[in-house]
Amino acid sequence: MITAISIRAAVPSDAPRLSALGREVFIDTYSGTASAHDIQRHVDDYFGESTISYDLGQASVQYLLAIDDESCAGLVKLREGDTPTLVSAANAIEVQQLYVSTDFQRMGIGRRLMDSAVATAQERGSAGIWLSVWTEADWATKFYLDYGFISLGEIPFMLGDTEYVDYLMWLPFDGS
Ligand SMILES: CC(C)(COP(=O)(O)OP(=O)(O)OC[C@H]1O[C@@H](n2cnc3c(N)ncnc32)[C@H](O)[C@@H]1OP(=O)(O)O)[C@@H](O)C(=O)NCCC(=O)NCCS
Repeated sequence: MITAISIRAAVPSDAPRLSALGREVFIDTYSGTASAHDIQRHVDDYFGESTISYDLGQASVQYLLAIDDESCAGLVKLREGDTPTLVSAANAIEVQQLYVSTDFQRMGIGRRLMDSAVATAQERGSAGIWLSVWTEADWATKFYLDYGFISLGEIPFMLGDTEYVDYLMWLPFDGS
């Protein structure tokens, strides 16, 4: 467990560091699982600096950052909006991204980012957190199950032209 890490809400000037971290971790983790073209397109769509700058201006989106001195060790992105039908609660928030830099993994940062995401979602009156995770990402599925999420079923996820199968996971705040 690293104790020097601090977690704070992102501000507009964080867009370049969020973009760099998201690109780095996604490529480190998922290159080779789809075509280089699809991976690059996904990274540009989801982690481009302009996309993140836009999202940082949306009231429905919050990014939280894990900071180690000056470097960015992790991020979590929360999004309020449409909820899959498998999630019965109307007021649920999505954790759309949770990424910890490869050099900082297995040090408790992901857990701390999720703790902060839960606190943020509770402050916003959410009944729980939902997210989707690739069924073959055993490390991430284990992380979420160990944290207390349950699987509600499977949903499709498109990365470029390739369809993947994700688990839809749910963390109810009242335990139901
Ligand atoms: C998934 C991820 C966010 C976890 O963050 P982390 O900081 O490494 O995780 P933590 O150190 O907080 O781990 C908490 C617990 O989760 C589980 N866990 C985390 N990483 C794991 C792994 N690689 N294998 C198995 N269990 C794991 C363990 O129970 C761990 O507790 P322990 O270390 O006491 O055994 C991180 O590995 C990551 O960013 N991976 C690449 C991107 C990704 O796949 N993101 C999720 C997309 S849905």
